[in-house]
Amino acid sequence: MAQTQEALIPTKDAFSRKAHVKSLEDYQRLYQRSIQQPEAFWSEMAEQLTWFHKPDAIMDLDAEQVDFSWFGGGKLNAAYNCIDRHATERPGKVAIIWAKNEPGEYESITYRDLQHHVGRVANVLKAHGVRKGDRVCIYLPMVPELAYTMLACARIGAVHSVVFAGFSSEALRERILDSGAKVLITANEGPRGPKFVPTKAIADEAVEGLSLVESILVVRRTGKEVPMLAGRDYWLDAEMAKHRGVCPAEWMDSEDPLFILYTSGSTGKPKGVLHTTGGYLVYAATTFRYVFDIQPEDVYFCAADLGWVTGHSYILYGPLMNGTTTVMFESTPTFPDAGRLWRVVDDLKATILYTAPTALRSLIKEGDAWVKKSSRQSLRLLGSVGEPINPEVWRWYHDVVGEGRCPVVDTWWQTETGGILIAPLPGATPTKPGSATLPFFGVEPVLVDDEGRVIEGNGVSGNLCLARSWPGQARTLYGHHQRFKETYYARFPNLYFTGDGCRRDEDGYYWITGRVDDVLNVSGHRLGTAEVESALVAHEAVAEAAVVGFPHDLKGTGVCAFVTVKPDWQESASEQMVGALKEQVRHVIGPIATPDRVVLVNGLPKTRSGKILRRMLRKIASGEVENLGDASTLADPSVLDELLAKATPPQAKR
Ligand code: WTA
Repeated sequence: MAQTQEALIPTKDAFSRKAHVKSLEDYQRLYQRSIQQPEAFWSEMAEQLTWFHKPDAIMDLDAEQVDFSWFGGGKLNAAYNCIDRHATERPGKVAIIWAKNEPGEYESITYRDLQHHVGRVANVLKAHGVRKGDRVCIYLPMVPELAYTMLACARIGAVHSVVFAGFSSEALRERILDSGAKVLITANEGPRGPKFVPTKAIADEAVEGLSLVESILVVRRTGKEVPMLAGRDYWLDAEMAKHRGVCPAEWMDSEDPLFILYTSGSTGKPKGVLHTTGGYLVYAATTFRYVFDIQPEDVYFCAADLGWVTGHSYILYGPLMNGTTTVMFESTPTFPDAGRLWRVVDDLKATILYTAPTALRSLIKEGDAWVKKSSRQSLRLLGSVGEPINPEVWRWYHDVVGEGRCPVVDTWWQTETGGILIAPLPGATPTKPGSATLPFFGVEPVLVDDEGRVIEGNGVSGNLCLARSWPGQARTLYGHHQRFKETYYARFPNLYFTGDGCRRDEDGYYWITGRVDDVLNVSGHRLGTAEVESALVAHEAVAEAAVVGFPHDLKGTGVCAFVTVKPDWQESASEQMVGALKEQVRHVIGPIATPDRVVLVNGLPKTRSGKILRRMLRKIASGEVENLGDASTLADPSVLDELLAKATPPQAKR
C-alpha cells in the first residue's frame, strides 16, 4: 500500500553499521530461528548470564494448567548477575548515576560501590529476620537505596514488592496485606519537583494496627525528622553501619520468585504480578541488549520510576545485567522547567533516552526552544513506552529531539510480559511513526476476533494475543493462580490475552490501538475503572459510580466519573462535593488516579437488567454524541437528557 510505504522511515546507516543487528534480513533470520528452534535460541541467550548451575531444560510448558517453566534446574542469583561479575571485571565503572531532584546535582555509584551497599543492606535485611522467600515491601522515592534494597532482596532470595511512592496509604496497605510483607522500607520523605512526598507518614498510616510488618527501615533522604516507633522503625543508614558489605548470594532456582509488582486490572483489586528469576532475567537482559542496541560506553537514561515495570526491567535489571551505566532520575521532566530532561542528557552525556509519550506531550506544549537550546549531541537512540505514541509526537521526538539522527524505538509491552514484546531493532527495522513495528525474538503475536477466531493476513485488526510462552512472562498472580488463568488465558483458550486492541498493517507492522478492557492508560499509568469506582462508592455520599476514559491531550486518556449520590445528600450535590470526591480518589488510590471530571447525575444509563451502558457513557464523555446507540435499550431513557446536558464537553453539545 503506497501510503504505508511512504511512511516508512529507513534505518540510519551510521547507526546500523555498529549495531548488534544490522539489517532487516538479519532480524528476520534471527526471528525465524527463535520461532523454529526456540530451545536452541534461548539456550544461547541464557549464556550471557552467570549460572551457578546451568539449566537442565530450556522450556517446560503446561498450557492446560497455565504453568510455565523456563531454564529448569538452573541456579542463579539476580544480584550476582547485576553486580558481582561487573564489580570483578570493571570495578570502577559507574553502575548508577543518581540525578537528584535538585537540578545539576548528581551522584555516581560504581559497580564496586554498588556491591558494598547492596551487601550491607542484604545483611540488614537478614538481621531483621528476612529469609529466602519472604516478601519485602519497598515504598521509596527515586533514591539509590531503592536500587540497593531491590538488589539486596534478590541477593538473599527475598521477594521484593515495590509500591510506587505516589500511591496512597490505603493502596500501600492493601499491597502489604496481599503480599504478606514483614519488612517495609521507606524514606523520611521524598522530594519530587517542587513538592515533598511524606512517605514515612503514609507508611505509618498504611501499617496502623497491622502486626504483620515487624520492621520499617527508613532512608534518610532529607534532614526532616519523623516520628520513629521504638522497636519497629530503624534508620537504614544506622543499620547499614552495623554490617559488613559482604553477603553471599543465595543460589536461586530459575523458577524461584524474584518480585511481585502490583498492577491494575478490570476488577477492583490490584493484581500482584509475579515474576521468577531465570526467565525474567534472560528476557530482560536480551531485550535490553537488542532493543537499545547497548554498547559498553552507553550512558542510558530511562526517565521512568523504579516503582513501575519499566523501571524494574529497564532501569535496574536489564541495564545492570549488561554492565551498563544507568541513570536514576528523582525529579520530573518539567521541574524546574521544560528543559530538565535535556539538561540531564547534556550534563551526563546520555546516549539513550527512554521515556513516555505523556512526558513528551507535556514538553511539546512548552515549545521547541527548550529543546533547541540544549546540545543533545551525545544522544544516539530514543525510546518510547507506556502508551500509544501519537504519530505527531513520534515525529517531534525524531525530528526535534533527535534531529533526525537518532532512531526511535516505540516499545510495546506490559507488567505481565516482563520485557518488551513488540518494538523495532534500531539498526535493523525501518520504522513508522505510531507503530511498535515487529515482534521481538521468540514472540508470536496473533490477532483474534471477539469470538476467538484467529485473523490471518495483513491489513487486519483484532484483539492482541500471544500464541506462545516467552521467558519473561509472568508466572502467576501472587496467591491467586486461578485469577491468573481467568484473566489471561480464559477469554481465548490457549492464547495469552493482552487486553489491547491492535492493527496489523499491509506490511505486517503492529499498531497498538489501546485497551479493549476496563483498564485506562492515564499518563502511561494503568488504572482499572473498577478501582476508581470502588474508591468513589467508599464515600458515604455516593450511591453509584461509573468511570470511563476520554481522549485527553496530555494524559492520553482522562478519567471521567459519573456519580449518583444518596437521597440524603442530594442537597449538597455541588461543586464542593465534586472536589470532595476527587479528593476521595486521591486518598484511596493516589494522585495519579484523580478524576479529571466528576459529573453528578440523578441516574446512570442502565439496561432493563440493570447493566450500566458504559459504551454510552464513554461516548458522552468523549463528546461523540452523534451516534449513542439505541436509547430504547435504556430502562429509563430520560436519564440521557441529563447526561448530555451535564457531561458533554461544550464544543460537542447538540
Ligand atoms: C500500554 C508498561 C502502545 C498497553 C510497560 C499495555 C502501550 C499497557 C505501549 C501496559 C506502546 C505500553 N504502545 N501501548 N509502546 N507500551 N502500552 O503494565 O495498553 O504499565 O497493555 O506496562 O500499556 O502497561 P504497564
